[in-house]
Amino acid sequence: MKKLFATLMILLTGLTATAKGADMSNAKVLVVYFSRTGEQYSVGNITEGNTAIVAKMIAEKTKGDLFEIKLKNDAYPTEYHPLTEVAKQEKKANARPEIIGKVDNFADYDVVFIGSPNWWSDMPMAVYTFMEQYDWTGKKVAPFVTHEGSGLSSIPSSIEKTTKAEVLKGFSLYGHEAQNEREDSKIKVDSWLEKLGF
Ligand SMILES: Cc1cc2nc3c(=O)[nH]c(=O)nc-3n(C[C@H](O)[C@H](O)[C@H](O)COP(=O)(O)O)c2cc1C
Repeated sequence: MKKLFATLMILLTGLTATAKGADMSNAKVLVVYFSRTGEQYSVGNITEGNTAIVAKMIAEKTKGDLFEIKLKNDAYPTEYHPLTEVAKQEKKANARPEIIGKVDNFADYDVVFIGSPNWWSDMPMAVYTFMEQYDWTGKKVAPFVTHEGSGLSSIPSSIEKTTKAEVLKGFSLYGHEAQNEREDSKIKVDSWLEKLGF
């Protein structure tokens, strides 16, 4: 009887651990993101990008370091429609716009969150410029996306293809929700992070 009880307890503990996922409380976290200010779909002129808002929420809960992907020569239009045209051309050309800055001690991070707006069902090409600059061996990558209807699209698999790292369950949120419903957004972000083990 004692033995049966012990076996059941071991089984139960195992099941609970699986349901909760990995324990990430000691993971060293980097939150990388690309985000635009200016005129955006459904939110008008914004001074803090939608993806930037989510990135900061993630960094706060995971005690992660933030890194913003910024273009070296930022000639993107600040109006929404002209920007969509430029972005379309860049995607078509599979461009790699130059970016500035480097993450110090990239090798030290266990988990890297990659945040991006959904641009034409993909990421801005500058995110690929970023990913191709680093060695992702042994890292876990968690994708997050803000969008206005397309969700994650195939962004997680593009990240997997480029980094060859282990990609964790991704998260997507409407850009206007991140911008205008911060408390509700934070609840959703935190719930995703808790499922990942944070
Ligand atoms: C160039 C461009 C292309 C976009 N393409 C899509 C798209 O294909 N699907 C979608 O749901 N939203 C699309 N959007 C909307 C953005 O994903 C959304 O507004 C996002 O929250 C912007 O994030 P940011 O403020 O961090 O840059 C596009 C926006 C831009 C500027």
